[in-house]
Amino acid sequence: MERLVSNWYNHRPLPESYICPPETRPGKLSIPSGDTIPVVSLGEALINRSNTILNVLRASQEFGFFQVVNHGVSEKVLNDTMNVVEEFFKMPMEEKASLYSEDPNKVCRLYTSNINYGTEKYHFWRDILKHHCHPLDDCIKLWPQKPTRYRDVIRTFSVEGKKLGLTILELLTEGLGLESGYFKKDLSEAMLLVANHYPPCPDPSLTLGLPKHCDPNLITILLQGHTFGLQVFKDGQWIGVQPLPNALVVNIGHQLRIVSNNKLKSAEHRAVTNSKVARTTVGLFISSSEDSIIEPAKSLTNAAQPPLYRAFRYKEFLSYYFSMMGDTELALQPFKLPFNQSVIS
Ligand code: OGA
Ligand code: NI
Repeated sequence: MERLVSNWYNHRPLPESYICPPETRPGKLSIPSGDTIPVVSLGEALINRSNTILNVLRASQEFGFFQVVNHGVSEKVLNDTMNVVEEFFKMPMEEKASLYSEDPNKVCRLYTSNINYGTEKYHFWRDILKHHCHPLDDCIKLWPQKPTRYRDVIRTFSVEGKKLGLTILELLTEGLGLESGYFKKDLSEAMLLVANHYPPCPDPSLTLGLPKHCDPNLITILLQGHTFGLQVFKDGQWIGVQPLPNALVVNIGHQLRIVSNNKLKSAEHRAVTNSKVARTTVGLFISSSEDSIIEPAKSLTNAAQPPLYRAFRYKEFLSYYFSMMGDTELALQPFKLPFNQSVIS
């Protein structure tokens, strides 16, 4: 519990254990202008569906990242969600102590830094609240009891966010030419909520809130609030994701890259800190259940475009992914097919 950054950040300079090696340090940061990720208005799907599909597909192929506006999740739901999660992190430590755990198998927990505080080489400037959202009626009983409206507000956000995720997956299904409803069943059954809290940091140039990584799941919907901090790695450069009012950030995870046989990109991203204000983000990580089989969609592979990955259970992938501490290509390595095996007979 004492390890949570929010517990001690305003009493100390940046501890040495939070300083990243020189090659991963963010250095001098500027608020992004110019280059940023695509913004897609989903409301237009009602008028011109094929154009919306094209926009979502292009963004997923080129960036693996985009923002959505006119997405159907109301401003009230977004504001309530951000407010209740900010309130959670502001509560006195005693109120949160029962949720703190360093056991990754706990279904609802508050922890800090990244995958494993005890074994990581250096730490990250982040506290995290993480819990399952499926099956909702079972999990909700384990969610935080305070703030008292947490469960109601987050129930609504998770249901609406999931619906939005499925809408985007259906647009991608059509865009890729997969059979309708491809992602509707097992592949998108599960969901995790991850609320990230990055307190103001004494030296944002030396540390990271979250290291460079790709999400392991199918698709992620992120409410990033008003404060800049998310960056996407594209063509050898970091580009900032500009906070836009009422927008949600969407990114393609490894599972979707694999199912699409590399037609969609799982982009690397990271979070940087700032010295002025705390930044809070709320992510919904849509994935298959852990026993589901993940493999390139059969209708996207043929003799000319052989499958690039073998079939595997999602839980097998997850445990390998976490053991690789987020290294993108290494995490995919054991699931890739060698060239000669990937030719369909
Ligand atoms: C994540 C993530 C980005 C952010 O939680 O996987 O990429 O800006 N978060 O908090
Ligand atoms: Ni991420």
